[in-house]
Amino acid sequence: MVCRATHQTSYDDYLNHMHSLKKRVNWSTGETYHYIAYLILFSTAILIIVTACNQPGTSHRPTLDVPIEYVDMHMPQGWWNDPKILSEGRLLYQGVTKPFVKCDKCHGRDGKPVKRGAPNFTDAKRVARFSDSYWFWRIYEGVRGTSMKPYAKKLSEQEIWKIIAYQHNFGLRGQVYDPISDRWKDPTIAKEGETSPTS
Ligand code: HEC
Repeated sequence: MVCRATHQTSYDDYLNHMHSLKKRVNWSTGETYHYIAYLILFSTAILIIVTACNQPGTSHRPTLDVPIEYVDMHMPQGWWNDPKILSEGRLLYQGVTKPFVKCDKCHGRDGKPVKRGAPNFTDAKRVARFSDSYWFWRIYEGVRGTSMKPYAKKLSEQEIWKIIAYQHNFGLRGQVYDPISDRWKDPTIAKEGETSPTS
């Protein structure tokens, strides 16, 4: 029957095809070594790139694009490691200053999450991907559809910066964000942020 004949032909075609494929794949040993050598070279290159990019404080760019109205907002000059700012930030973070603002309820006293879905702020690699503007934006507007609510009405801009200064020490101890190079740096080699957004 016609139908059967068609099937038969296509199966023969298939066998022929597989046969020719087999022939093509039948490399000489030299070719195989070349192939393996290329594979090793390629994987090493990828590994080096990935490792280099994951060094905290050296070469990270922000996780997400920041809305245009936030890109020029930066930590006020000298605040990253100012003890007075850090202690005010801590009291805000822990809900002492404003009992209705308790970041530690979800993000933990030490930056390790205590509620499901909250990111780990002690994970330097992760946190080094935030710019200061990104950080501010996330607190100011919250993350829609999650338990991270907006704090625009509960905190002043200055209070948000104080919290960020405190919170950043969980993962990026002592480092400062440099908006010019878009990098986290050791304060001894970094020029600190441009101007205060609030002053
Ligand atoms: C009720 C729990 C809860 C409270 C309280 C809370 N957060 Fe969050 N926060 C979350 C969760 C959950 C996420 C992750 C949202 C997501 O899925 O992107 C988050 C995300 C964030 C992010 C963004 C991290 C990222 O990876 O993009 C920042 C910054 C942040 N919180 C800071 C704060 C600060 C500062 C406070 C206090 C003013 C605070 N949070 C209070 C639950 C909370």
